[in-house]
Amino acid sequence: MSTTKFFVTGATGYIGGSVVSRLLEHPNASKFEITALVRSPEKAAKLESLGIKTSVGSLSELDKLEKLSSEADVLISTADSDDLNATKAMLKGLKKHFEVTGKRAILIHTSGTGLLIDNAMGMFAYDTVYSDNNVDQIEALPPTAFHRNVDLEIVNADKEGYAITYIILPSTIYGIATGKLVDLGVQHSHSQQLPGLIKAALARGQAGMVGEGKNIWPDVDIEEVADLYIVLYDSIMSNPATGHGREGYYFAENGEYVYYDVAKVIAEALAARGIGTSEPTSFTEEDYKRTPILNYLGTNSRCRADRSRSIGWKPVKTTKDMLASIQLELDELLKKPEELERKISGKQGTL
Ligand SMILES: NC(=O)c1ccc[n+]([C@@H]2O[C@H](COP(=O)([O-])OP(=O)(O)OC[C@H]3O[C@@H](n4cnc5c(N)ncnc54)[C@H](OP(=O)(O)O)[C@@H]3O)[C@@H](O)[C@H]2O)c1
Repeated sequence: MSTTKFFVTGATGYIGGSVVSRLLEHPNASKFEITALVRSPEKAAKLESLGIKTSVGSLSELDKLEKLSSEADVLISTADSDDLNATKAMLKGLKKHFEVTGKRAILIHTSGTGLLIDNAMGMFAYDTVYSDNNVDQIEALPPTAFHRNVDLEIVNADKEGYAITYIILPSTIYGIATGKLVDLGVQHSHSQQLPGLIKAALARGQAGMVGEGKNIWPDVDIEEVADLYIVLYDSIMSNPATGHGREGYYFAENGEYVYYDVAKVIAEALAARGIGTSEPTSFTEEDYKRTPILNYLGTNSRCRADRSRSIGWKPVKTTKDMLASIQLELDELLKKPEELERKISGKQGTL
């Protein structure tokens, strides 16, 4: 078997670090050559100690991004779901790869079920449930939907025929990441939505929710999200019929929750520490001004990961585990002031 060249963006991130940890443990790892784009030279040096090649730079260095992409057999993009310019540069690189080698590289991009959101502001739940197997339903989403401009570029690259593309769309990812990269101190170990709600609660001294918290989101454990990338990669390798392009959307969920229930668990955990009352209250204009992304937490996003399951992904953690994870999340965040300060990544601070 010849060497497979991976190029990974976001390798120091919550999702990307967990995926890279699994690539290092893959049965074919000895045949993998992994290159990561990393912003911090210190983190790059630590990643090199694991046998990962690095290029110090950022998504805004488009020429570098294009070149690194042109050299990859498999590009795993986890840094930013919404960076259109970076995506175009990566696709340019994949096109060059095809022109030079005659082979279509694989792109596994990270989007999110934010694609499906409405504007409920916490006042209702919607009934539409999207399936990643239902291509027509996904194609009916407007080009203005969240993440859609980037996702459409990617699907188009597959249509044009110079790359084979797959898009993983995680929902609310929860849990504290573990693994080699966390142990080395290079990987962010906390997610975005639940820590975001906890941070907002701490900032206002009271757990909160958007409106009445009636909106619904799906959830998924971080380790099981990372599993999906590997299950998908293995499926692509063993079965060329694995859905790609317009049939290449893979949701990551294993249950869903009503936002009020999450806010209530946070309220009770904080009240037990003498912070606020055990009943969450609605965020105010002042809260939204301080943390505009809170608006996002009043949306609905409902889906079933049917296609992901059809390729052998078997998540077992459920919403019950997600609710139980909040206590540990809070304990850990309180121990890490730098994590409490960390702004969530992505141009739009997306989730
Ligand atoms: N977490 C979730 O629940 C979730 C769910 C669905 C979708 N998503 C989306 O998935 C993406 C990754 O999420 P995450 O939770 O893994 O975020 P994260 O922990 O903040 O990781 C982001 C990674 O990308 C890197 N990065 C960010 N901007 C970069 C830039 N301009 N140039 C080079 N590297 C850059 C970061 O590097 P540094 O180490 O230098 O910061 C880090 O390695 C985001 O777009 C997010 O919106 C997340």
